[in-house]
Amino acid sequence: MRVPIIAGNWKMNKTVAESVEFVKKIREQLPPANQLETALAGPTLSLVSMREAADGSPLKIAAENCYYKNEGAYTGETSPYALYQAGIHHVILGHSERRKYFHETDEIINKKIKAALTDHLCPIVCCDDTMGRRTAGKKVHWVVNQILSDAKGLSSDEIRHVTIAYEPSWAIGTGQSADPDEAEEGCYLIRQTIAYMYGKEVAGDVRVLYGGSVTTSNINALMASRDIDGVLVGGASLDPETFLRLVNH
Ligand code: G3P
Repeated sequence: MRVPIIAGNWKMNKTVAESVEFVKKIREQLPPANQLETALAGPTLSLVSMREAADGSPLKIAAENCYYKNEGAYTGETSPYALYQAGIHHVILGHSERRKYFHETDEIINKKIKAALTDHLCPIVCCDDTMGRRTAGKKVHWVVNQILSDAKGLSSDEIRHVTIAYEPSWAIGTGQSADPDEAEEGCYLIRQTIAYMYGKEVAGDVRVLYGGSVTTSNINALMASRDIDGVLVGGASLDPETFLRLVNH
């Protein structure tokens, strides 16, 4: 049984004080985690304070990135081990903005996924898709190869701890969400790739999310889709009342 999840990705927004105030505003209004998981990914600077503010509530706090080493001369990077020790047990990896601005390759993301799993983190791995590949009819090839590369070498048990988010970059921050059919198609494609790699039973256990201009207007149709187990929300997660409306959709 895949527990659905509503996760916010704040990206590089909010101060520590704003982050804590947000968590305090919503923490008593969330459903039990076994019915609907809720998570917020915030800036690294805010994570420990967010986790402390969320303590005792169903809300999970996620990092937006981490490195693939636990310690060493990697200036500016965040250790997956240190995240886990700080009580931050979820991490977004491979977001299209990491791939675009920070030149993260599937090879690097594969290393990060393995390191995160080794340190008992639950990765939310983003699979992107571009307009160019969409219009050129190369979407299937691109998405399949991205999952094959990002999940390379993971065991069946390991992949079960990975949540994958289909996030077409042409829908991110544009207000133009993929329609439910296209979002379902992307998530189905991911699930079929996992089935090819690990078998249908394991693929049935892996959560697949959609991300890209999710709002209170389109979340119901998206969450009603068979292969969409949740959403990863950027802009609409920045406001507490809107986030709660997404949760209570
Ligand atoms: O990770 C989710 C994010 O990329 C989606 O952003 O603003 O289109 O909801 P947004």
